[in-house]
Amino acid sequence: MGKILVTGGTGFIGSHTCVELLENGYEIVIVDNLSNSKEAAVGRIEKISGKEVTFVKADICDYDALSEVFGKNDIDAVVHFAGLKAVGESVRKPLEYYTNNIHGTLVLLRVMRENGCKKIVFSSSATVYGMNNKAPYTEDMPTSATNPYGYTKVMIEQILRDVCVSDSEFSAVALRYFNPIGAHSSGLIGEDPNGIPNNLVPYIAQVASGRLEQLSVYGDDYDTPDGTGVRDYIHVMDLASGHVCAIDYAMKHNGFEPVNLGTGKGSSVLEVVAAYEKACGKPIPKRITERRAGDIAICYADASKAKEIFGWEAKSGIDEMCADSWNFTKMNPNGIN
Ligand code: NAD
Ligand code: UD1
Repeated sequence: MGKILVTGGTGFIGSHTCVELLENGYEIVIVDNLSNSKEAAVGRIEKISGKEVTFVKADICDYDALSEVFGKNDIDAVVHFAGLKAVGESVRKPLEYYTNNIHGTLVLLRVMRENGCKKIVFSSSATVYGMNNKAPYTEDMPTSATNPYGYTKVMIEQILRDVCVSDSEFSAVALRYFNPIGAHSSGLIGEDPNGIPNNLVPYIAQVASGRLEQLSVYGDDYDTPDGTGVRDYIHVMDLASGHVCAIDYAMKHNGFEPVNLGTGKGSSVLEVVAAYEKACGKPIPKRITERRAGDIAICYADASKAKEIFGWEAKSGIDEMCADSWNFTKMNPNGIN
């Protein structure tokens, strides 16, 4: 089938995508600097898939290390997850975010060019729709950002667009993820954030397991059916299968293609809490607090383009996502070690 370089492959979405790539016959090489993941994820990917994985601990900003990876392996395409992703931290540390995400991507693209590798699938985000578009978001809407993290996604998409213009054989698919949650059904891999989680479902998981006391619901006065924020939660395994479709697509088409990966359906904070309570069989203590700065009321995808060009659509609903998250949380009280 081919050999895929997966940058950031030991992270949350990367590890699930590695399993899906292996199960679809691809060989993989993971490059990760382990800044937000553990090497133990490699063994878990191998255990689930029954296949061997090449792991290289390296930073994508390290030109020599990446050149060596390409020198030793015949890489057909790259799935590029490596990046820093915390919105609040990006406001405090903009230079770290621009260096890691943008400089890292430029080094990767240079090494790809030097080795004749012209296929890339990039982890973009629904954050590129900014504050001025109205859901459901379609890929042709103008992109913008409100924080350094979001700008790195907007800028990397532009860089990929420009590379595709400069080389008619180059193919770049920018997958705009909505809100990935859940875990592999084995419970061996899942989301294992460092410190106190920023995102809703990892936070609820830690309240359910007793590590945190109660959830703060950031505002119940939005213009939504129950007043709480609405998001398009997507099972990480559905997201993973979307990457296999994107690789297959990139192998056959040239040019830049932005594609939403979402379910096309929104759930409110209170609906997610109710689904999680059902999954874990206990109440999630919560209180309503102020809105979080920078949050929008409603965000969900128009998912029709992925269906049209990949033949892909999300299969899991919010109950299954919460059940798999809870299964992973229960099985890994100390994370992936
Ligand atoms: P994650 O932090 O679990 O995974 C990212 C991985 O990249 C980590 O294993 C980290 O160690 C590695 N990494 C970071 N900088 C690196 C560098 N310079 N060199 C090598 N490795 C490096 O995050 P995730 O949730 O799996 O996200 C993967 C990608 O998807 C990121 O680019 C993120 O911005 C994007 N994304 C995530 C979400 C989400 O909600 N999780 C939403 C939209 C987009
Ligand atoms: C956040 C990021 C966004 C990123 C996305 C996926 C911010 C401002 N935005 O978006 O850039 O692309 O994650 O990684 O950080 N909520 C609570 N209590 C909590 C946590 C969240 O009520 O403790 C609410 C939020 O207000 C929101 C919903 O839950 O309505 C989902 O929040 P979250 O999981 O952080 O995702 P996003 O806000 O969509």
